[in-house]
Amino acid sequence: MQISVLVAHAVLVQIVSAGLLPLRPLSLTPYAPYGVNCPSGPLTRNADSLSPGELDWVSNKQKITTQKLATFLKGANLTDINVDGFLANTTRPITIGQAFSGGGYRAMLVGAGEIAALDERTASSDSGLKGLLQASTYITGLSGGSWLVGTIAMNDFISVDEILGQSKIWDLTKSIFNHFGLDVLGSLAYFSQISTQIESKQLAGFKVTLTDPWARALSYQFLPNSDQDGAGLKWTDITTFDSYTKYEMPFPILVADGREPYTTIIDGNSTIFEFNPYEMGSWDPSLHKFANLQYLGTEISDGYPSSRVCINGFDNAGFLMGTSSSLFNQFILQINTLGLPSFLSNLISTFVLSPLSIVNVDIAYYSPNPFYTSSDNLWDRITKNRTLYLVDGGEDGQNVPLQPLMRPERKVDIIFAHDNSADIDGWPSGISLVSTFQRQFWEQGGGVHFPYVPDIETFRNANLTSKPTFFGCSAKNLSALTPDYLDIPLVVYIANRPFSYWSNTSTFKLSYTDDEKRGMIRNGYEIETRFNGTIDPEWPACVGCAIIRRQQERQGVEQTEQCKRCFDKYCWSGSSYQGADIGENFSNDGLTYGDEYYNAQNVQGIDDGGITLLKKRVLEFEKME
Ligand SMILES: *[C@@H]1O[C@H](CO)[C@@H](O)[C@H](O)[C@H]1NC(C)=O
Ligand SMILES: *[C@@H]1O[C@H](CO)[C@@H](O)[C@H](O)[C@H]1NC(C)=O
Ligand SMILES: *[C@@H]1O[C@H](CO)[C@@H](O)[C@H](O)[C@H]1NC(C)=O
Ligand SMILES: *[C@@H]1O[C@H](CO)[C@@H](O)[C@H](O)[C@H]1NC(C)=O
Ligand SMILES: *[C@@H]1O[C@H](CO)[C@@H](O)[C@H](O)[C@H]1NC(C)=O
Ligand SMILES: *[C@@H]1O[C@H](CO)[C@@H](O)[C@H](O)[C@H]1NC(C)=O
Ligand SMILES: *[C@@H]1O[C@H](CO)[C@@H](O)[C@H](O)[C@H]1NC(C)=O
Ligand SMILES: *[C@@H]1O[C@H](CO)[C@@H](O)[C@H](O)[C@H]1NC(C)=O
Ligand SMILES: *[C@@H]1O[C@H](CO)[C@@H](O)[C@H](O)[C@H]1NC(C)=O
Repeated sequence: MQISVLVAHAVLVQIVSAGLLPLRPLSLTPYAPYGVNCPSGPLTRNADSLSPGELDWVSNKQKITTQKLATFLKGANLTDINVDGFLANTTRPITIGQAFSGGGYRAMLVGAGEIAALDERTASSDSGLKGLLQASTYITGLSGGSWLVGTIAMNDFISVDEILGQSKIWDLTKSIFNHFGLDVLGSLAYFSQISTQIESKQLAGFKVTLTDPWARALSYQFLPNSDQDGAGLKWTDITTFDSYTKYEMPFPILVADGREPYTTIIDGNSTIFEFNPYEMGSWDPSLHKFANLQYLGTEISDGYPSSRVCINGFDNAGFLMGTSSSLFNQFILQINTLGLPSFLSNLISTFVLSPLSIVNVDIAYYSPNPFYTSSDNLWDRITKNRTLYLVDGGEDGQNVPLQPLMRPERKVDIIFAHDNSADIDGWPSGISLVSTFQRQFWEQGGGVHFPYVPDIETFRNANLTSKPTFFGCSAKNLSALTPDYLDIPLVVYIANRPFSYWSNTSTFKLSYTDDEKRGMIRNGYEIETRFNGTIDPEWPACVGCAIIRRQQERQGVEQTEQCKRCFDKYCWSGSSYQGADIGENFSNDGLTYGDEYYNAQNVQGIDDGGITLLKKRVLEFEKME
């Protein structure tokens, strides 16, 4: 099998380089990467700065975000602040990043409600935080969060309202591998299309893994409006979308982790990869390189293509989302392979049959490895391997994709960290932020700093997960971490919690009725807006205070009385909780009501434990998401 693949690739390369055929092989489906002429110059670079593409795009984007921020701040009822004067005074544009955690459809849907609350296009009566999405420069997603960010970015910055107003995107009523329900012919066609697409990638000379069928299946749910359900849609296509060229969408980044077969990821030593519209790679010392995303799949040595033929189309958008969420590959092992096209059933059987393979079921192959180098003076093993191995971005315990936003090069002032993880009883415990905080003290942390956070007992029992909490409120307090403490972003932590819906559904619940879907999204909206502004009418002003905080500190401007009051309310005080565990009792301001209360109020969703089929695996894996 391997040999014939290599031969096929070699033949393709020869034919293409001899100029005998059009560079794009006609017989293959658009999922297969294809040959193009190589550009001149290297295809990788050291991670010493932002790419020229990003620098240029962001500088234009920030003209717009600054205007949108001014509009937001003026509407947020900040007292005693001259918004225009203040913004005109800034030494650099205020940069906002939005991060969306993993956690399957739960994270995607709650995150969707949270994004809707920030989106100026959302039709709703409260003005709250609307417009902040348009004022944000960056947006990151990982695993279930990558489905959210990927769906929005790859559909040309579609709004959540628009998604809910149509029926193709996010039709979650049928489980992902039962896309056509009882429609046998539809299912057959679905699986044979998926099978052909993946086989064509293999025939073009590329190793395939279970991430490929997973990616294709996801695409039917996220990219149904694109040709052949996104089979040929690339992450780099973002740069051609209207909403991107007009600087409307924030700069979208997906996160994945490096993991070789038969190894586990030790938190602090993980290599964190990002995919942005121009590049993929890692800032971490273990790699510290980026590759030109458009030419991913090209045989590269020491940064230069090995021949005149380069590859395009490897950066399939669904494949990137599938990589970021590869923990879910295990679901493919559950489908009944009888009746599947033999290519697909053989691929699945390889993993099912061998206990050795099954531990590697989550790994996506990026082969050829763009970072491969033949020189042997490098200490790291990533660059010595012909294959780059990537997995779900949440596998290192950092389920909120914060690293790309913490890079000093990106000059982010404030991060909104949306945590929809299932740590305890399906709710976040803050453990993701604790892991991110700790990573800065590892060699792999690479000198990237994050504000102090407490232990998870404090997160849960001191109400830091039941209402939004600000970390790093006072940059001066971070001076022990780095002399450049003013550059450490302030973090607005927003954890999943119930208001009108039990939004702690299982990570592995793979179908939602329309009512369930809307319930989850509505609850996300209510989380972001403090129950539609009813708990704290001053919440938008408090968010405004957090956004301008670092810039005030840089200018040496004293906080207003209102902002001081806000910070008293929302900043972590710095103290730790000592005492017995209280448990999940979510009241509007803190933790007082139990599930009995919510059931008495007819809050829906409590009995929703997700699918039971995989209960055991769920217990094993739920911790990771
Ligand atoms: C600001 O105050 C005005 C007048 O009190 C009110 O109508 C408006 O809803 C408030 N806006 C926000 C975002 O709270
Ligand atoms: C602008 O900055 C100067 C100091 O650099 C300060 O005196 C002034 O109050 C600031 N203006 C506003 C509107 O914040
Ligand atoms: C909050 O606003 C959202 C969006 O308009 C709406 O769907 C939801 O029902 C509102 N919740 C409450 C409790 O009013
Ligand atoms: C992390 O990496 C460092 C440097 O490669 C190594 O010395 C250390 O043992 C690793 N730690 C763990 C827990 O794997
Ligand atoms: C590449 O990684 C695989 C999996 O860890 C390993 O088996 C193989 O030996 C590595 N190859 C090289 C050249 O290091
Ligand atoms: C900053 O540090 C001071 C003194 O160490 C402390 O009193 C204060 O609570 C801290 N503020 C924040 C926001 O952490
Ligand atoms: C958490 O919220 C509850 C209920 O509102 C309150 O009684 C308790 O004092 C809060 N805990 C902290 C540490 O603020
Ligand atoms: C949490 O809820 C349970 C059940 O309603 C209740 O018995 C308990 O007192 C609550 N804990 C706190 C700290 O309010
Ligand atoms: C959701 O949270 C409630 C209260 O913490 C808990 O009783 C329930 O079991 C959780 N549901 C799931 C699916 O974890």
